Amino acid sequence: MLSKKRRRHQPPVIHPRNRYSEKPPDFRFLASLYPSFLPYVSYSPHSKSAKPSIDWTDFNATRELTRILLLHDHAVHWWIPDGQLCPTVPNRSNYVHWIADLLSSDIIPGKRRGESKIRGFDIGTGANCIYPLLGASLYGWSFVGSDITEVALEWARKNVEANPHLSHLIEIRNSAREIDHTQVALCSQDISTGDDKEALNSGLVGDKDCRARVLVGVVGDSEEFDFCICNPPFFEHMEESGLNPKTSCGGTYEEMVYPGGELAFITRIIEESQELKQSFRWFTSMVGRKANLKLLVSKLRDVGVSIVKTTEFVQGQTSRWGLSWSFISPNKKSVLSKGPTKSHYSFSIEGLQRQFGAVHVLKTTESYFLASATPCESDLVSFCINVTLPTEQINIILEDNSMNQICNGSSSLLQCPHDGLQFRVSVFEQIPGTVLVKVSLKHREHPLSGIFSLLVHNLEEHLRKEFVKKKHLKPCLIT
Ligand SMILES: C[S@@+](CC[C@H](N)C(=O)[O-])C[C@H]1O[C@@H](n2cnc3c(N)ncnc32)[C@H](O)[C@@H]1O
Repeated sequence: MLSKKRRRHQPPVIHPRNRYSEKPPDFRFLASLYPSFLPYVSYSPHSKSAKPSIDWTDFNATRELTRILLLHDHAVHWWIPDGQLCPTVPNRSNYVHWIADLLSSDIIPGKRRGESKIRGFDIGTGANCIYPLLGASLYGWSFVGSDITEVALEWARKNVEANPHLSHLIEIRNSAREIDHTQVALCSQDISTGDDKEALNSGLVGDKDCRARVLVGVVGDSEEFDFCICNPPFFEHMEESGLNPKTSCGGTYEEMVYPGGELAFITRIIEESQELKQSFRWFTSMVGRKANLKLLVSKLRDVGVSIVKTTEFVQGQTSRWGLSWSFISPNKKSVLSKGPTKSHYSFSIEGLQRQFGAVHVLKTTESYFLASATPCESDLVSFCINVTLPTEQINIILEDNSMNQICNGSSSLLQCPHDGLQFRVSVFEQIPGTVLVKVSLKHREHPLSGIFSLLVHNLEEHLRKEFVKKKHLKPCLIT
């Protein structure tokens, strides 16, 4: 109840480069330019401003809106047949911009000199082919878009061909062929009853998996991609897909349903990514349920990825999450310093032993700072500690050459403020065994945020060492 209320008051988080971040699409204006859109626009007699709207439960209306937004704002010609999944442009753009941020960050080493062209792989591009079309038109990226259904492959190709200015950048690939044929033969031999046939349709017969692969075999041996992008089939059963009576975005069985739902689909990407560690710089997927995000992050930890990054996409009342991972070793300095302006960090510590909770994490944090004679004041009622890193300690860190790099090598960043670096560490118990640690700078625009990120990183490492029994190599989790 509380979280719903909070959500209503939260401003929607839309990527700042999303062209709809400042101003949502103007239906009145679009209807005046595109007569085909006009019949779908209505003006509520009850609203004072007579704000134009469309009926979001009408598939034809949402499809026409997507068509004209792609045409008007992106110069992309586009269409899908009745019933196919209709993407919303602002929402899909958020994911594309987030990937652009990942690629331009220095979290992992950049491309080799001379390799500047970005190449992506869209797993399950759908009839709408939305990610390749947006990625190519917004950023000039090239793509392979894959799918398994005839209709998706046919319409994705039509959508590419309808845009000659982009068609050289997009290839559509059939991944249905990439089934483990030995397994399919075995599955078919096992079919005897109607129930078995249903199982074969779902791709699973007994312990045999006849579902199409997502990457392995679809990606050629010598191919390299900067990223993969994926909006997976979210649901386990078709009935779940109609749960939002407020919108109609279409969606066929194949588009919406996968045995085991998104958790199984993304798990499959994770498993196959292990075989293709060297072929992709970043693996990414959209996640529909927060509970699944948590499970997937822990799967990633188990397979030994070197970095995990997550984000939340909010559009109106709907939240989705972005999950990305890489097997490439991160640039240490970039993990430590996410840029000169970052004023807060958070990390969660999972797998705390039974006897430990937020209070122990707080006390250990206090001892950690006191051990290096860093003044701090703890407030056990609010579960926070105020820390001041004195100027002398900052100067010692700055004398270290590597730190100059963390501060981006700019000499102006090496001016140390006389009152030191002040920040607050707050600890929140989430569920038994998991605490969230938030660390915020007192002065948001502090010139030494590179040092701040280093301190947070070291604190995180220390707390993990103290409280978590390591299973495998831990990835860096940045949210
Ligand atoms: C939710 S739709 C996403 C369509 C589009 N990318 C979008 O964002 O609107 C999921 C797509 O994944 C496809 N799909 C299912 N299994 C697949 C596999 N093994 N390989 C590639 N695509 C697959 C489905 O046919 C469907 O088109």
